[in-house]
Amino acid sequence: MPGLLVTFEGGEGSGKSTQLARLAARCAELGIEPLVTREPGGTPLAEGIRGLLLDPARRPGPVAEAFLMEAARAELVTDVIRPALAGGRVVMCDRFDDSTLAYQGGGRGLDLEQLADWNRAATGGLTPDLTLLYDLDPAVGLARRAQAPGPLNRLDREPPEFHARVRERYVALARAAPGRFVVLDAALPPERLELLGWAALEAQLRRRGLIPSA
Ligand SMILES: Nc1ncnc2c1ncn2[C@@H]1O[C@H](COP(=O)(O)OP(=O)(O)O)[C@@H](O)[C@H]1O
Ligand SMILES: [Mg+2]
Repeated sequence: MPGLLVTFEGGEGSGKSTQLARLAARCAELGIEPLVTREPGGTPLAEGIRGLLLDPARRPGPVAEAFLMEAARAELVTDVIRPALAGGRVVMCDRFDDSTLAYQGGGRGLDLEQLADWNRAATGGLTPDLTLLYDLDPAVGLARRAQAPGPLNRLDREPPEFHARVRERYVALARAAPGRFVVLDAALPPERLELLGWAALEAQLRRRGLIPSA
């Protein structure tokens, strides 16, 4: 596929949304208007599913939770991400398929191969070109979340062991795919993280000819 798919992964409060906004602004300065979206969400149906998934009053079992994520993903990929990539756009997605492997796999304990199959069904085999992993002690991330405005969602409220397993799984995924992942120390200040993330993204943009070579 032409275009570039960049995904932002990490635990709660690790700074994904902050860094996505900063890197999108850097692209815009170069005249590249990225398509910015998020998971679960990004279409009316998928945003509806997001509301169900993050509602603390709901208690879906692990398989139902995974299928809801995949349903939202399937629609986002088909209706938004693939058309944008086909048009040569840079797509920046706040969470993508690795989140399922980390949360429903690491966190909930579902089988990794099974989840990878479900991911493939939802994405049609689409894989990110670059995945920025914001790696952080979950206690630090959750403390940031607790200080930010707005209530804690259903996943924020999972116990510390759950968040520790999510982090471990993310790190294992990054080790298994070092060509796609860039792991960043999310305890660094936002400005430093922006520079590190931009270095990784800029290299990809150059490789694809989306910005001229230096
Ligand atoms: N590098 C950072 N250091 C300290 N606080 C940060 C950093 N990045 C983001 N924050 C703050 O932490 C909170 C969570 O950031 P956010 O980008 O929403 O994380 P995420 O999208 O990964 O949940 C926000 O209040 C944000 O201002
Ligand atoms: Mg966020």
